[in-house]
Formats: sequence, C-alpha cells, structure tokens
Amino acid sequence: MKIENCWVLGVVCVWGWVCLVSGGRDDELSCNMYEGEWVWDDSYPLYDSSNCPNIRSEFNCLKYGRPDHLYLKYRWQPTNCNLPRFDGKDFLTKLKGKQIMFVGDSVSLNQWQSLICLLHSSVPQTQILEQGDDINVSNYTFPDYKVSVLVFHSTHLVDIEVEKIGRVLKLDSIKSGSLWKNMDILVFNTWLWWYRRGPKQPWDYIQLGDKIVKDMDRMEAFRIGLTTWGNWVDADVDTNKTKVLFQGISPSHYNGMEWNEPGVKNCSKETKPINGSTYPAGLPKALYVVEDVLKNITKPVHLLNITTLSQLRKDAHPSSYNSFKGMDCTHWCVAGLTDTWNQLLSVQVTS
Ligand SMILES: *[C@@H]1O[C@H](CO)[C@@H](O)[C@H](O)[C@H]1NC(C)=O
Ligand SMILES: *[C@@H]1O[C@H](CO)[C@@H](O)[C@H](O)[C@H]1NC(C)=O
Ligand SMILES: *[C@@H]1O[C@H](CO)[C@@H](O)[C@H](O)[C@H]1NC(C)=O
Ligand SMILES: *[C@@H]1O[C@H](CO)[C@@H](O)[C@H](O)[C@H]1NC(C)=O
Ligand SMILES: *[C@@H]1O[C@H](CO)[C@@H](O)[C@H](O)[C@H]1NC(C)=O
Ligand SMILES: *[C@@H]1O[C@H](CO)[C@@H](O)[C@H](O)[C@H]1NC(C)=O
Ligand SMILES: *[C@@H]1O[C@H](CO)[C@@H](O)[C@H](O)[C@H]1NC(C)=O
Repeated sequence: MKIENCWVLGVVCVWGWVCLVSGGRDDELSCNMYEGEWVWDDSYPLYDSSNCPNIRSEFNCLKYGRPDHLYLKYRWQPTNCNLPRFDGKDFLTKLKGKQIMFVGDSVSLNQWQSLICLLHSSVPQTQILEQGDDINVSNYTFPDYKVSVLVFHSTHLVDIEVEKIGRVLKLDSIKSGSLWKNMDILVFNTWLWWYRRGPKQPWDYIQLGDKIVKDMDRMEAFRIGLTTWGNWVDADVDTNKTKVLFQGISPSHYNGMEWNEPGVKNCSKETKPINGSTYPAGLPKALYVVEDVLKNITKPVHLLNITTLSQLRKDAHPSSYNSFKGMDCTHWCVAGLTDTWNQLLSVQVTS
C-alpha cells in the first residue's frame, strides 16, 4: 500500500477507505501512465551514459559534444499516478530466467540500448555476455540473473526477399516469427521505413498474395503489413507464455509547424520539452492505424503508448551530436527519452 498513490488520486481520497483499498500496484496498471507532462527533476538522468557499455555512436550525444544538458533532467509525471523510478535489480530479479526481445527498426535498437544502460547501471559489477552478429540480432545476457535482452533488426516486421525481379516486400509473410515466439517478452515496432523512397527504399516491388506491384499507398501498405503481424500474433504466439507489446509511433521533429514554430525545419535549437500534456499537431495518422489493428487482435497485446509523451520531447534528439554529424531529429539520445519508455515497459512486465 502506497500513500502517495492515494494522494495523487486527489478527489477519490475524499472517500478515505476507497482510496486506501485501491492504492498500490493496481493503480499503476489501471491509471493511464501515458498521459501527463514533463517535469524538471534534478535527480535525473538515471545513469551516467559514459559508464554504459557499448552505446552506438548515433545515440551517444554527450560523447559527440552536445553542449546543453537540460534535456537529461526531465521526468515523466503521469496526471493520475506516479511512474515508479526504474529499479534494475527488481527488474532482473522478477524476470529471472526470461528472454526479452525488441523487434523492429533502429528505434527498437534505441530502446534496447537504453535498457542495457539502465540495467548495467543498477548492477555495475555484473558480467554481461554479448552474442549475435550485431547487425540482425544482438543478445546481451546478465548471467547472474539468467536474463537475456535481445534486439532483432527488422524494418517492416513482414519480409523483404531478394528474387529474380529484385527485392520484394511481402506484405503477407513473416518468416522470423518462429524465433520471436520463443521469447518471454516481445516489444515490436515498425513505421520509419514505410515511407522511404529513392535510394533509402529497401525494396523494389510490393507483393500481396499473387499480386506484385511497383508501389502503392504507403499507409495502406503499413496497415496490411501490420495486420499480417496481428494475425501472426493470434495464430502463433502463446500469450500465456509470451507477453506481447507494441511500441506506439515514435515521432520526428523536422517541422516546427507541428509545435507552433513555423519556419523551424529541424531540432537543432530545441533545448526544452513542450509544456503541458498535448502536442499542438495532435497524433500522427500512423498511430490510428496501429490502434485499429491492435483492436482487432484477439490475444492480449499492450500498446506502449509513447507517442504523445515523445512528441513533447523535441529537445531529446541527437540533432548533429552523433558520429555522422547529420541532422537526426528521429532517434533519441541515450541517456534520455528512451529511458522513460523503459520505465513504462518495466511497469508492464514486472507486475
Ligand atoms: C495513446 O495516447 C494518446 C495520448 O494520451 C491518446 O489520445 C490515445 O487514445 C492513446 N491510445 C490508446 C490506445 O490508449
Ligand atoms: C541479416 O538478415 C538479412 C536478411 O534477413 C540476411 O540477408 C543477412 O545475411 C543477415 N546478416 C547477418 C550478418 O546474419
Ligand atoms: C542469448 O544468450 C544466452 C546466453 O548465452 C543464451 O542462453 C540464449 O539462448 C541466447 N538467446 C538466443 C535467442 O539466442
Ligand atoms: C491460456 O490460458 C487460458 C486460461 O488458463 C486457457 O484457457 C488457454 O487454453 C491457454 N492457451 C494456451 C495456448 O495454452
Ligand atoms: C537546421 O535548422 C537551422 C535553422 O532552424 C538551419 O540554419 C540549419 O541549416 C538546419 N540544419 C540542417 C542540417 O538542416
Ligand atoms: C512553461 O512553463 C513554465 C513553468 O510554468 C514557464 O515558466 C514557461 O514560460 C512555460 N514555457 C512556455 C513556452 O510556455
Ligand atoms: C480485422 O480482422 C479481420 C478478420 O481477421 C481481417 O479481415 C481484417 O483485415 C482485420 N482488420 C484490421 C484493421 O486489422
């Protein structure tokens, strides 16, 4: 029983005992943790990123000279409850013997790296075993706890296969599922690559059933691909053993119109989050597609609904403070925002 939960329930506490009976862990699950605002907290960040083993240079903003450090100092404050501080020992203890895998694009890699840093900082003396080819799958195991934290690289979740005509994006095929479904916890994500064109587009044709086309409406392709994934969950995943989560759409900040600063074309000058709980531009269309598909899945899948809270963090991208000196307003600095995603993940998987 936690008194602070009662306290934040405010009005409900008028009925004293009702508040007490409903206090504690259940509130964290029943409260919408994804609605809230960013508040200054001097005890943040949760770890010193220079001590973290192996953060890829794309996310290592401090190493590449980011001069402003305010972005490290914000804590997510849900409106109706508190987000527990990340407790790595508790996480590892409760997940003893389990394997947790992030499946998706570089945004999944971004969250995976944050989780490794968070766990390492909680048990700095513990050995970490590294396995995998580092391109398609990385497996970091904490042998003292028998917990493996993996990331599986997949741009679209559905397959891309090289055939005689070229690279074919197969909207109705998921071949890697046989590996994924052995995991105890799966965190999926895909979005970034569905609108890629030109040299960055990783396929030449799209296939659906027997039909092969040169291109199609990309949002529709995304919906079909995601539905294939949803049907795979329903058909193949034993959700009694495996907990399935889907990461909401991770937003980019290249268009200041979205946050009422017309003329701004990137995140290079952003050093503070947006005040309050709402993003002026509203939710991206892709999130509605995700919500539609998730509603249709029979088995339990939890939406890690990080979209709005991340939209508010226009300050949390690497911008030019990364190894390639480009302008990255898509990924997130580690330490930083993705630590909050993992705090939210921890609430879902440790209770
Ligand atoms: C995700 O969060 C946004 C912002 O709080 C909210 O509008 C949306 O309804 C949420 N989606 C789901 C499925 O909970
Ligand atoms: C990664 O996956 C791709 C496609 O699935 C495959 O062609 C490639 O050989 C894999 N790379 C490694 C290093 O395993
Ligand atoms: C990850 O590595 C651990 C430790 O070596 C191993 O037990 C586990 O099977 C590996 N997981 C996968 C999916 O390869
Ligand atoms: C999962 O558990 C439920 C309730 O215990 C049971 O009815 C169902 O058959 C189980 N599903 C599988 C695939 O084992
Ligand atoms: C980023 O935006 C600033 C002004 O907002 C502009 O001067 C700069 O050229 C932009 N940088 C890149 C790489 O787009
Ligand atoms: C955000 O809120 C803080 C504290 O209430 C205030 O000082 C600041 O001016 C606000 N910033 C904007 C851009 O509204
Ligand atoms: C919902 O499920 C039905 C039946 O499996 C399927 O035909 C349809 O495509 C699904 N729609 C979405 C949006 O997932």
